[in-house]
Amino acid sequence: MKRMMILAAAGTAALAGAVIASAAPPAGDNNTLSAKKAAAPAIAQGFDAVIARHSETMLEQGRKIFRYDTFGSEAFWGDALELHKAIAGAKNGGVGPGVSPKTALAVGLKVDSDALPAALKKQIAAGKVNLDDPATTIALLKLNAVVGVTAFTNPDGSVKSMGIQCAFCHSTVDNSFAPGIGKRLDGWPNQDLNVGAIVSLAPNLKPFTDLLGVDVATVKKVLASWGPGRYDAFLNKDGKAFRPDGKQAGTLIPPAFGLAGVDLATSTGSGSVTYWNAYVGVTQMHGMGTYFDARFSDKDQYPVSAKSGAWNTRDKPDRVTAKLAALHYYQLSMPAPKAPEGSYDKAAFERGKALFNGPAKCATCHVPPLFTEPGHNMHTPEEIGIDSFQADRSPTHMYRTTPLAGLWAHQKRGFFHDGRFATLLDVVNHYDTHLSLNLSDAQKKDLVEYLKGI
Ligand code: HEC
Ligand code: HEC
Repeated sequence: MKRMMILAAAGTAALAGAVIASAAPPAGDNNTLSAKKAAAPAIAQGFDAVIARHSETMLEQGRKIFRYDTFGSEAFWGDALELHKAIAGAKNGGVGPGVSPKTALAVGLKVDSDALPAALKKQIAAGKVNLDDPATTIALLKLNAVVGVTAFTNPDGSVKSMGIQCAFCHSTVDNSFAPGIGKRLDGWPNQDLNVGAIVSLAPNLKPFTDLLGVDVATVKKVLASWGPGRYDAFLNKDGKAFRPDGKQAGTLIPPAFGLAGVDLATSTGSGSVTYWNAYVGVTQMHGMGTYFDARFSDKDQYPVSAKSGAWNTRDKPDRVTAKLAALHYYQLSMPAPKAPEGSYDKAAFERGKALFNGPAKCATCHVPPLFTEPGHNMHTPEEIGIDSFQADRSPTHMYRTTPLAGLWAHQKRGFFHDGRFATLLDVVNHYDTHLSLNLSDAQKKDLVEYLKGI
């Protein structure tokens, strides 16, 4: 805050005597392109300058929080679960064989190449770094190079604890250095991350067995059921570990990009983006914070959280609430990435677009360019032709119209909230049947090309 004020003051001072060139918009022309050209004067003044500086600060702080803030979650992942001990291994003051960089990459953890010193990069490239040694993992953690995980160390250099960040699940890397090692891609879901396998390594699973009232073997069975790219954010509320048909109950880790303008967040629309940030930060990452939602005190729908009181968490100190504004701001600043040139057929895309906006009825719900409804973007399970299991785990009992922009960037684990449709063609076939569209094979293909390009 203090820093922002100083920046704003400096900005204003610099303005004294500055010549401000401002192009007035052509009369009567209000289309977005020319509005953009005629955007704000080159240098803002007065409260405009305060807003501009605030925007910069929020973006910067939000990025830092999203990438590096553990919200005090080391009290859970380290102190309680002792996961850092399993990572370090017995040879480095922990327990068991430890987690080598190869194993870490195999369970989907990513390495930020920008955090690696040039000399180390050279050594890795030359094959001179032992990627089978957990000590190397510790070194990477100390460099803050493991995306979404931070280690805390003792004065003697041994690992004391560890916490996680939003980036753990909602960032990946571009693999520009090696598979799993590259530049950060904030907001892109980590489709390789096997959260269940990672948690399962914890020497102490008592926080889960106590909360859920089950034994360690059962907890491990549940954790093993999700597989890569999935996590269950309702388990510690309702205790429903599996669907009635015995299938896993996790949901896909979705992108955190492309959400500006979108009303409700998550597949079942429990609340807004900032609502969900508090939910996850406090009740899933187990950061220290405040979270209140009386809906989760319902004994019938949420026996676990009604009992644990997690619906009304008031941790002291609160290390989440003061970060929600900047975190929200940063998330809304992440655009959906554009599909790479050549990754879809352009002519088919155009034909698919016409179908999407017309006879295939997609745009009635997925309203472009948001691809969700401006307004209350929610539907009953019957409307979209799927079962109500996940909807009924949410306070809403409904599904949220998924914003589709950037769909191409997360195709690996299937589609819909749990990845039930393996391919986009499966999705289109589902709608074809459910909405009685009678699309031809060629039309279905065109729709798929459109979905790949938006
Ligand atoms: C352990 C993995 C994990 C972590 C850590 C995590 N999330 Fe998520 N996030 C998920 C999953 C899974 C969902 C989907 C939940 C659903 O649809 O019910 C989700 C949903 C979301 C959504 C909704 C996306 C949409 O399409 O509406 C946002 C926004 C989000 N998370 C932001 C965050 C932020 C910010 C943090 C850090 C405070 C965070 N998440 C930490 C796994 C995670
Ligand atoms: C009645 C509203 C409605 C209509 C009509 C509709 N959708 Fe959807 N769509 C939804 C909802 C709600 C979801 C979320 C389902 C879930 O997560 O289980 C969804 C999910 C999707 C997804 C999955 C996105 C992801 O990230 O997994 C795709 C793709 C999709 N719709 C494409 C289409 C296409 C193509 C059409 C037209 C043929 C269409 N939708 C028509 C409401 C609708």
